[in-house]
Amino acid sequence: MVYAATVWLILLASLHYALGSSTPGCGMAPPSSGTKTIGSNRQYILQVPANYNASRPYKLIFGFHWLGGNMNNVAPSYFGLRDLAQEGAIFVAPNGLDNGWANTGDRDTTLVNQILAEIKNGLCVDDTQIFATGFSYGAGMSYSLACSNPGDFRAVSVIAGAQLSGCTGGETRIAYLGIHGVVDSVLPISTGRGLRDRYLRVNDCQAKDAPEPPEGSDSNYTKTEYSCTAGYPVWWMAHGGDHVPGPSSGKNWMAEHTWDFWTRGIYVGISDPTPTVTSSTGTSTGTTPTTTSQQPQPTASCAVHWGQCGGQGWNGYSCCQSPFVCTVLNTWHYQCL
Ligand SMILES: *[C@@H]1O[C@H](CO)[C@@H](O)[C@H](O)[C@H]1NC(C)=O
Ligand SMILES: *[C@@H]1O[C@H](CO)[C@@H](O)[C@H](O)[C@H]1NC(C)=O
Repeated sequence: MVYAATVWLILLASLHYALGSSTPGCGMAPPSSGTKTIGSNRQYILQVPANYNASRPYKLIFGFHWLGGNMNNVAPSYFGLRDLAQEGAIFVAPNGLDNGWANTGDRDTTLVNQILAEIKNGLCVDDTQIFATGFSYGAGMSYSLACSNPGDFRAVSVIAGAQLSGCTGGETRIAYLGIHGVVDSVLPISTGRGLRDRYLRVNDCQAKDAPEPPEGSDSNYTKTEYSCTAGYPVWWMAHGGDHVPGPSSGKNWMAEHTWDFWTRGIYVGISDPTPTVTSSTGTSTGTTPTTTSQQPQPTASCAVHWGQCGGQGWNGYSCCQSPFVCTVLNTWHYQCL
């Protein structure tokens, strides 16, 4: 019986592997959520989605804390992203040594590689949807991973960052979102522009004016979407405020735009390799977003604005809360827009 179950699991795992981008942890009993330890002194918080389905490849999202903070400042909200993921993503909050990300001798990159290996072996992850974000020192660590691990991470969102954790490599394309306050008193906006400019160059983006708002509110922001190599967009969002991980009042536009970038922005201009796949919520028609007609559904059981509402392998909501409309972005992702 044990033998049969093992063979079955191996077959299941290899089937998923053969199908594409899912990891060896697909089909396995998942680890529980909570604090995990690696070696003698490294830790991270793991958040496994509610109703976790071991056959479904999930997004994996890393959130890095600021200087003086720790992993408990990132979990459980993960910079506002967890609400938007609606239990459709695995979240990780690594803990820095000395409450920061000095990455001396690549020790923090090594930690991330160890966490990636543990999670891919234990959980079902979509290898093509691994993301990182962080604020301040944690933004520096996210930037460092963009430089060193562009093959692992699909995109990063760097909130009020600077080059603080190094940049080994940094010549390979990765989708990049930078967010910075025009009167940041800790890491001036010029440092954030500098990080952005690396990826404008590496991703072959077209030059474009990037207006920034006047000093004032961190709810007032401008957004510039650069035209870059397909699949490797750069977005720049400047706000009127200081050094903040999120807006001090009002809706969390930083989280919303990060989510939009990771679920829609990175696919703009990419042609769909499997244009004829259908699902219960509509037919994908390639690169042009199309609107699917949805039966009216009770609002409480529908996805929120920016939420996912369909796509290959998706078993979550198939409708959107009013007034948002379920829109086919590509085979894998339909979104409430
Ligand atoms: C918001 O930014 C715009 C320019 O992007 C500016 O014209 C406007 O005055 C700003 N509003 C506030 C309240 O700061
Ligand atoms: C789990 O995910 C797989 C693959 O997406 C799907 O076929 C299956 O119906 C899901 N199971 C449940 C209980 O939702």
